[in-house]
Amino acid sequence: MIRVTYLSRAASPLSADDLLQLLKQCHQNNTAKGLTGMLLFGNDTFLQSIEGEKSVVEPLIERIAQDTRHENVKILRRDEISERQFSDWSMGFERVTESTLAVIPSLRNFGLRNFSPEYLSEHDDIVDTLLERHRAPHWDPLVRELDARDKLIKDLRIELNAARNHVGMAALVLETVIEVAKDGRLDDAHLEICRSTLASLR
Ligand SMILES: Cc1cc2nc3c(=O)[nH]c(=O)nc-3n(C[C@H](O)[C@H](O)[C@H](O)COP(=O)(O)O)c2cc1C
Repeated sequence: MIRVTYLSRAASPLSADDLLQLLKQCHQNNTAKGLTGMLLFGNDTFLQSIEGEKSVVEPLIERIAQDTRHENVKILRRDEISERQFSDWSMGFERVTESTLAVIPSLRNFGLRNFSPEYLSEHDDIVDTLLERHRAPHWDPLVRELDARDKLIKDLRIELNAARNHVGMAALVLETVIEVAKDGRLDDAHLEICRSTLASLR
């Protein structure tokens, strides 16, 4: 398997609805192709990691690079892997804002303006910190028994990751509904996304 991580810049400002459609496409395609990953978006910047079989990931990366919704796709890393980091998500999503950055202790001095392809491509450590928060906990098969504290921390981390992802999706869905309702574009597809998001929160 491989994991490819890249940065890019949105070609034009993306509405909440645009982002939701993009994520829907990622979930559908990636689930079918056994791909997992994480997509961060903020300040018109995408940071994405995609992992899966090389024969599936490489052609997808080529297709993504041609996608007119973004430009200046810059591959940061292409790693051979034996284990997935984002095994919980067909494509996890985080909307990066000043307030989501403010809660990361090691990124206190990192403002949203720095969430840009130019800055991040020079700061590997920050890319790691941003992605690390979404990684599934590592399970070492050689360690047969985690002690109770480690197990609790592992479980809490899974829960926290799941909660973050659900809140992120719910916020995006609400944002989309507000946006499309304003100009009378609310349709059955939006209501269906509301229903499935609600079901996932219950
Ligand atoms: C920032 C960004 C990330 C994307 N990530 C994925 C992805 O993880 N999986 C995917 O299938 N398509 C992704 N796409 C969409 C692809 O570029 C392309 O439109 C899609 O794979 C075509 O799928 P289709 O077969 O449904 O038309 C992404 C596009 C952009 C702009």
